[in-house]
Amino acid sequence: MITRDVISITDLTPETINVLLSDALEIKAGRRRSIPSGKVLALLFEKPSLRTRVSFETAMMSLGGQSLYLSPAEVGLGKREPIADVARVLSRYVDIIATRTFCHTTARELAQESSIPVINALSDVEHPCQVLADMLTIIENKGELSSLKIVYVGDGNNVANSLMLASAMLGVDFTIAAPDGYQIKDDIFDRANSYAQQSGARIIRMEEPLDAVSGADVIYTDTWASMGQEVKSRERCQIFSAYQVNSNLLCHAPENVIVMHCLPAHRGEEITDDIIEGPHSVVFDQAENRLHATKALLLYILGGLDISIGS
Ligand code: CP
Ligand code: NVA
Repeated sequence: MITRDVISITDLTPETINVLLSDALEIKAGRRRSIPSGKVLALLFEKPSLRTRVSFETAMMSLGGQSLYLSPAEVGLGKREPIADVARVLSRYVDIIATRTFCHTTARELAQESSIPVINALSDVEHPCQVLADMLTIIENKGELSSLKIVYVGDGNNVANSLMLASAMLGVDFTIAAPDGYQIKDDIFDRANSYAQQSGARIIRMEEPLDAVSGADVIYTDTWASMGQEVKSRERCQIFSAYQVNSNLLCHAPENVIVMHCLPAHRGEEITDDIIEGPHSVVFDQAENRLHATKALLLYILGGLDISIGS
C-alpha cells in the first residue's frame, strides 16, 4: 500500500483538495461508495473528541470498514511505550491510523515510523480534517471559493493555522485578527505566503477585529483556550475579550456573511449565543460536513469503489 500521510493540510496538493471537496459534495448528495473490504482504522487519541471520533467511526462503518478507538488512557504514546514501537505494532494490525496528539511532532513521528497511512486528527499545530469540512461548508454556502475573503477572529491556533494554509493553497483571501503574542507564527505565515504566490490569495495578519471583518464572506472563530491550555483559560478570556464574535462585530461585516466555528464552542466567550443560534451561523452544517469530508479522505487514502444503486 502507498503510504499517504496527512499530518499537515499541505501534505495534500491543492488539486487533491479540490478533488476531495467535489467527492465529498457527491457523497453528501447520495453517491454510494465503499472502501475495499476488511479495512480497519485505529483512532489513537490523546485528547477528547466528539466530532472527529464519531465522524471517523461512522465514515468507516458506512464505507464498509471497521474502527478501533484507543482512548487517552490506553496506549500511553511515548510514556508507556515509545512512539516508534506503537507505530510499528499498529502497522501490523490495522490499515490506517487517525491520531489526536498534544504535540505535532508525535503525529509526525508516528507517520514516519508506520508503514500504513497516518492522518492527523488534531495536534497543537494543525487540524487538517477540520479545514476540509470547512471548505466544503463554504462552497455550499458561497459557491466557488475563488474571490472569497475568510476572516478568522481570535487565537492563532491549530485550526487557524490549517485554515490559513488551506486558504492560501486554494486561492482564498485570508485575514486573521489576533492579539499581539497570539498570532499565527512566522513559519506557518511564510509557508502560506509561498502558496499564495502561486494561487493569488492575499494572506494578512492584523490585530484590529472590527477592521478585519470589513468585506468578509466568512467570519470564523474557535476557543480561546485549546485542549491542553485550560489552566490559562481565565487569563486568556481577558486577553481575547475584544475578539468576541458578537452582534457588534457583525455590524462591521457584510449582511450576507456566514459565521463558522469548529466546535466545541464556549458561548459567551469567543462567540455569543445569539450569533451561534442566529441566521448567519452555519456551525451545525459545518459539523455534519466533517462526516462527508472524512469519507472522501478515507476513500482517497484507502481506495474507493462505487456501489451501484440497488446492490
Ligand atoms: N471540531 C472538532 O474537532 O471537534 P472534536 O474535538 O469534538 O472532535
Ligand atoms: N483549537 C481547539 C480545536 C478543537 C476542535 C483545540 O485544539 O482544542
